[in-house]
Amino acid sequence: MALHPLHGLVEQLETQPIIFIGGKGGVGKTTTAAALASYYASQQQKTLIVSTDPAHSLGDVLNVRLNNETTVISPYLDAIELNPEVIVDEHFAQVERTIKAYANPDMMPKIREHLRLSKSAPGAQEAAMLESMCHHLVEAADAGYEHIIFDTAPTGHTLRLLVLPEMMGAWTDGLLAQQRRQAKLRSVATHLDSHNQKNDKNDVANPFAAKKSDRWEQAVSVLEKRKQLFRQAGLLLHDRTQTAIVLVMTADVLPLAETKRAIEQLEDSKLMPAAIVINQLISTAQSDEFWRRRAERQQHLLHDIEQSFTKYPLYPIYLQQTDVRGTDALSALLSV
Ligand SMILES: Nc1ncnc2c1ncn2[C@@H]1O[C@H](COP(=O)(O)OP(=O)(O)OP(=O)(O)O)[C@@H](O)[C@H]1O
Ligand SMILES: [Mg+2]
Repeated sequence: MALHPLHGLVEQLETQPIIFIGGKGGVGKTTTAAALASYYASQQQKTLIVSTDPAHSLGDVLNVRLNNETTVISPYLDAIELNPEVIVDEHFAQVERTIKAYANPDMMPKIREHLRLSKSAPGAQEAAMLESMCHHLVEAADAGYEHIIFDTAPTGHTLRLLVLPEMMGAWTDGLLAQQRRQAKLRSVATHLDSHNQKNDKNDVANPFAAKKSDRWEQAVSVLEKRKQLFRQAGLLLHDRTQTAIVLVMTADVLPLAETKRAIEQLEDSKLMPAAIVINQLISTAQSDEFWRRRAERQQHLLHDIEQSFTKYPLYPIYLQQTDVRGTDALSALLSV
């Protein structure tokens, strides 16, 4: 299977509401994501681009300073750069509010200290980012976007994010089951207790006990909501009419090896990439010996790439003379 013309990519993804751009570090994920977003916006399709990469490259590519809130880039293009530190702070503030609602107030200083330390625990930022991404994913359709494009951090991280909703769902299930068992035990204990106290004079329902069960309900409802969010996000990610995963690579040995591994992992999780972009290709018509050799080397690797990924459409993006920045230049990159 040969390379498809690049305009085929924008046509193929035209009806996809959710597009994830993944790939090894430095291959051109941000450029591809921003190019797609700029192109659709130029076609008056309302588009949101979300960067999950803390390196601020999306803002640099769009020539705009971005943050966690929606920034309007042009009438049809909005952008968000998720900052893991801000998100993790917001996430833990939310956790603290939830715990406060049902914990013994005397325990709060200890709990606060525990939460403060948890913020820097491994995986905390990832979990907070995941939840935030899932929110954007689920809310984007309601917000009236025709496309939401995720410019992600390098491969391993993205794959974990794509697979995590299921794991988090299972984890929340475990927590809920545990909570239910405890509730059952508690109700048996309360029953026995009230049985013992039947003849007591103060046979009035304990107001604190009632409050406690309310608080428990609240905690469960937070977990249920989170579970629901991950479930919805998981369903969206696995629905190929909704989500397209585009892998970007260059025609080099290491990106080829990494893309093969990424595809195996995706397929294991029943997530199939929709397309593969081969970026930074050099045209073979070169007079300079150095560039001609590089172009030939790429052609050799292209052969391996075509053999390796027979199931997926391959689209080329050619190496430009300079970095591609600004929405006009970006969308022009795909208009060839
Ligand atoms: N087709 C191209 N022609 C010219 N320059 C390109 C092309 N694609 C990408 N670049 C340049 O290569 C560099 C890396 O690209 P980009 O930031 O898009 O990669 P990335 O995969 O997002 O990197 P990271 O893994 O660091 O997020 C940038 O300077 C970008 O401008
Ligand atoms: Mg990037």
